[in-house]
Order: sequence, then structure tokens, then C-alpha cells
Amino acid sequence: MKGRPAGPGCSDGAAGPGDAVQRRKGEHLRLTATRDVETRTGPGWADVRLVHEALPAIDLDAVDLSVELLGWRLRAPLLIAGMTGGHGAAWEVNACLARAAERHGLAMGVGSQRAAARRPALASTYGVAREHAPTTVLIGNVGAPQLIAQGDVPPLTGGEIRELLATLRADALAVHLNFLQETVQPEGDRRAEGTLGAIRALAESVDVPLIAKETGAGMSRRTARSLAEAGVKALDVGGLGGTSFAAVEGLRAELQGHRLGARLGETFREWGVPTAVSIAAVRPAGLPIIATGGIRTGLDAAKAIALGACLVGVARPLLQASLEGGDAAVDAWIEEFLAELRATLFLTGSRALDDLRGCPRVILGETRDWLTQLGCLTDAQPSPAPAAGKD
Ligand SMILES: Cc1cc2nc3c(=O)[nH]c(=O)nc-3n(C[C@H](O)[C@H](O)[C@H](O)COP(=O)(O)O)c2cc1C
Repeated sequence: MKGRPAGPGCSDGAAGPGDAVQRRKGEHLRLTATRDVETRTGPGWADVRLVHEALPAIDLDAVDLSVELLGWRLRAPLLIAGMTGGHGAAWEVNACLARAAERHGLAMGVGSQRAAARRPALASTYGVAREHAPTTVLIGNVGAPQLIAQGDVPPLTGGEIRELLATLRADALAVHLNFLQETVQPEGDRRAEGTLGAIRALAESVDVPLIAKETGAGMSRRTARSLAEAGVKALDVGGLGGTSFAAVEGLRAELQGHRLGARLGETFREWGVPTAVSIAAVRPAGLPIIATGGIRTGLDAAKAIALGACLVGVARPLLQASLEGGDAAVDAWIEEFLAELRATLFLTGSRALDDLRGCPRVILGETRDWLTQLGCLTDAQPSPAPAAGKD
């Protein structure tokens, strides 16, 4: 096993753009773990009610939580969402979360690997995840804005991205769509024209499936269809209702004395399509759906799956658990979460996740209004989930 990088900044002494990326990664970890950066708008779970079955079909302990994603079998429908890498403090977080993913048979993502492309010495802060999770479905990560030139900075090339995937032995690649974050971030990458074409070219040039992933502002039907046509194999809706990257970047801007960034962060903190709405909106694209954004309990997860998600992703609560209590705290969080999910299947008369997808549900309030006005209400009604096969 390669060692842990020496210092929290992993600096090799060469100042440059890589240092700025490392610094930002450290600030993201610190601010998301310690400050109030959640949206005030909910993800919609409070509006989604599952119908109680007074006579469960099977024993609680016999409920099957296993699920298939892109041809892989997971023991439970939980993805530890991509968060970090590229900073000394990220090494231990990724190691801890990877051990948990391996123990519980979950999937795991790493954070944006751009830092390792720019500075190979940082590769171990991502690669440590594979070392601690040799059999886990591991998802690499690059940003869509970095697939095109941004000012003087050239795009990541197909060769660089294949190299990043190889060092991680990644099973899939998430391309994150974070244009809200880039808009608020004082040093953000704001060019977007040509991104869809770059995603299409990337889908053809890597030999792992691409997952398109929002990071907290959700997804519309139109975007989902474009991504499906571009060759993306799964969608992580990354909806509104959990961690707000407008809030995170707004805080960073405030600390830098950057007035416009601070203002944009506050104004756009609640911007986006709530996670529950996003799931129903993207269903017609026919791709497997990962529901990330404000999933906090196993009951939230059950509601997301009932609406059409294959699995759910969780970021901030697992980051906090790993930083506050290491392996024991992460294990406890996952075990309680899965107990809640199992209880929900039991109480809705479901033996397995497919039964949950066919379960009756009631949609109330703002979520109903969103779905009605977007013409998505019927897509939120019970029906078989889309096939989750590799093609
Ligand atoms: C500290 C931190 C760093 C993140 N970095 C990335 C990243 O590099 N790439 C990415 O796709 N998403 C990133 N995310 C977004 C998460 O994967 C997730 O979509 C978002 O936090 C919403 O989930 P949550 O409400 O459970 O936190 C990051 C999240 C956190 C908390």
C-alpha cells in the first residue's frame, strides 16, 4: 500500500494552479463538515407518503435489500457519494469510507480527480479508496466544465482521463454537472458551450460506463434526454434539498472578501429541482437513476426508490461521521440507515426493492405542484423500474 501523503496540503513545493485546487478541496471539507450549508428547501420526502400494510408479506429479517446497478450486484442500494481527493485530509476520509463500502457491499465515488491530473503526486488521495475497497464498485469523477477549455486552461484529454480511471481501477466514471457551483465560486469555470459534445466524445473514448451527476441543483427531463442521447448510462440526479454548493461557495467567497460571490451564494442557495421531483422528471430518459441530495434516513431512501431510483447516494452525513468518529461512526450510521430502509420495506409489504417500486404512494403539497406543472405526475406513480442492465 502506498503511504499517506506527508502534510495536509500534500505540497511538493511547486506553487501553481494545483495548489489553489488543493486549498479549495480542504476548504470544501472543512466548510461542509462544520458549517450550516444545507438548503432550507426540502428534497420533497415530506410530501411523499408510502401506504402502510398492516399485514406484512414476510419476516423483517427476510427483506432483501440487494440491487443491481449497471450489471453489478450491491448488497444494499447505497452509494457513498463522491466527495473528495486531492488534499492531504482527503486521504483518511476516502480510506475510512472505502472500508465501510467494502464491509457493507455498497458502491462508492471519489471526488473530482482533476487535482491528480494536474499533480500526479495527489493520486494516492484517491487511489487509497481502491486499496481499502478492492472488490467495491468504485466510481471515478471528473467535472463537465473541465472537459472543455476554460480560458488558458486546456480541457482534460481522453488520455488523461483514462489514466485517472486506470490508477483507481474505477468501474464507472461520474461526470459532474456543477454549473451552479462554478457560477458562485469566485474562481469558477463558467464556459459551458460544447460540454454536451465533450461528454459524447468521452463516452466513446473510455471503456467504463459514464454516469452524469448533478451536485445539488437537480435535473430536468430535457437535460436527462440529452445526456441519454450522448451515451451516458446512468443519471445521478443530485437534487436540491441537501448540501448546497451555492452556500458552500458563498461562504468561501465571504471569507475571501468577494462580495459578488457571497451575494450569489445567498441568492441561489435554494436554486434547483428538488430530488424527489428530479427522479420523476428524468424517468422517461429510461436510464438507471441514482438519487443523491438530501437523503438522510432509510425512509427517505425508500421514498426515492419508490419514485423510480435504483439506489440512493449520501454525501455530507457520511463525511461528518468519518471526521467525527471514524470507522465506528460510519458503520453505525450505515447500519441505522439500512435498518430504517428494511423497516420501510417490511411495513409496505415489500420483500425486495422491486416490490417497493410497485407500491402505492401519495404525493402531497409542493412536490405535487411541481410534478403537476412539469407534467410529471404520472411518472411518479407506481410502475416497474427501468432495466438496470449494462447496456
Ligand atoms: C465535501 C464535499 C465535496 C464534494 N465534492 C464533489 C466532487 O468533487 N464531485 C462531485 O461529483 N460531487 C461532489 N460533492 C457532491 C456530493 O457528491 C453530493 O452530490 C451532494 O453533496 C449532495 O448530497 P448530500 O445532500 O447527501 O450531501 C461533494 C460533496 C461534499 C459534501
